[in-house]
Amino acid sequence: MKEVLSAGRNDLCPCGSGLKYKRCCMHGRSAHEVSVAELYLSNYRIKLKTVKDIAGIKKAGKLVVDTLRLAEEFIRPGITTNAIDRLVHEYTIKNGARPAPLNYRGFPKSICTSINEVICHGIPSDRVLVEGDIVNVDVTSILDEYFADANMTFFVGECSPDAHKIVDIARESLKRGLAAVKPDNTIGDIGFEIQQFAEGQGASVVREFIGHGIGKVFHEPPDVPHFGRRHSGITLVPGMVFTVEPMVNLGKRFLRVLEDQWTAVTRDGSLSAQFEQTVVVTESGYESLTPYEL
Ligand code: MF3
Ligand code: CO
Ligand code: CO
Repeated sequence: MKEVLSAGRNDLCPCGSGLKYKRCCMHGRSAHEVSVAELYLSNYRIKLKTVKDIAGIKKAGKLVVDTLRLAEEFIRPGITTNAIDRLVHEYTIKNGARPAPLNYRGFPKSICTSINEVICHGIPSDRVLVEGDIVNVDVTSILDEYFADANMTFFVGECSPDAHKIVDIARESLKRGLAAVKPDNTIGDIGFEIQQFAEGQGASVVREFIGHGIGKVFHEPPDVPHFGRRHSGITLVPGMVFTVEPMVNLGKRFLRVLEDQWTAVTRDGSLSAQFEQTVVVTESGYESLTPYEL
């Protein structure tokens, strides 16, 4: 114990690994964990998160989910997406956080609101939600330097069987993708499970937008496609933090981006839905840092 406390950065680590203390247990990681973290950083530019990082993202994540629940309470026929944006913006600030989308690469609002055939990145406006719409609200907050990112698709009043169908497929797609998040599985396993399920239901999976690593940066490695082949891609290891956020269309997967340079819509005009959570890979599977029931 005495040695642990007195070990200098450049001394041999008291754990007996033969490495310098700063390369080993100084960061609360074993020699093996240090070498994995270095490998992931140098090979993939993936920054494995520390216990402190994970606690920070989780705290931001709790705010994100609370914010989505607040938005949900206000979603009804007659409300504009601008009103939801303002509500979220004020709630975020009141809780000591910042909305990450605002001014991100020129995005003009604090959330994304994607209605019906809008796949993602819908810009809040004076458009009024009407009975039968489905609307995705995507919230990313920065709290004490840490980002957390989640979204849900909501029904506006009574909706068609098609609307229920695509929302249910999107929710189940995320659930199945997350079930593949465990050490020794790969990133490809996540996409495989999602694609297998969604296409099996007759829906399609958007390819142009994917999940992403997240931490002190909004979008960082790794990429997390929602399609792919079993056992392909990077192997999952504890401490990886990323989003899974499948966008599924009732019709074909193809999209087009509107004049505003943001709004992505289905080419065939079919309905699209999405659910997103931010998760950390653990020793036994994953923990959602933006947990809500799927
Ligand atoms: N929240 C989105 C995501 O899941 C990103 C939105 S970027 C914005 O990655 F600029 F449109 F807000
Ligand atoms: Co995201
Ligand atoms: Co998001």
